[in-house]
Amino acid sequence: MKKLAILASGNGTNAEKIMEYFQKSSKAKVALVASNKKSAYVLERSKKFNIPTRVFSKEELQNGRLIEILRQHKTDFIILAGFLLQLPQALIKAFPGKIINIHPALLPKYGGKGMYGQHVHQAVKESGDSETGITIHLVNENYDEGKIIFQAAVSIDQGDSPEEIAEKVHALEHKYYPNVIESLI
Ligand code: GAR
Repeated sequence: MKKLAILASGNGTNAEKIMEYFQKSSKAKVALVASNKKSAYVLERSKKFNIPTRVFSKEELQNGRLIEILRQHKTDFIILAGFLLQLPQALIKAFPGKIINIHPALLPKYGGKGMYGQHVHQAVKESGDSETGITIHLVNENYDEGKIIFQAAVSIDQGDSPEEIAEKVHALEHKYYPNVIESLI
């Protein structure tokens, strides 16, 4: 049984779908949900599933303490689900090829620094693109540039607001992220 640790900074709708999915899996289980924000709603969601939670500081992310915590929970894979801080090199090196991220656009478009959550959907709207989507990828040293594992697209209607685009993207994320994780482990 592989152990997954979810890192999330906010609401946690993707994290919840993953917790729900792996409750019934014989391949993996979610062993830890960790957040850099103590007010993150993802921590509430985790209670429903009796999954241990941990809040860590920016310092603990940088000084190696988070790596220790992840090891204490025997983490095999780290799942980023709306985690908004950049991972330090030491953490990426400690879990090579074992960190999975979801990005709310079709990378390489709309990736990189500052491109997260609503900022992405706003940029997509301003571009006038006729489609957007999701990218699930491995995390390497360069933000949003790791190996792409999976992409799915959705069309944008001219009148769609950034919020409506976000809703379409979230629906794709919820549909695919858990299955793609399972196929990788
Ligand atoms: C998701 O749309 C995810 O793709 C995005 O944050 C949202 C979190 O939503 N991640 C990034 O933008 C990372 N660059 P959630 O908290 O409801 O799962």
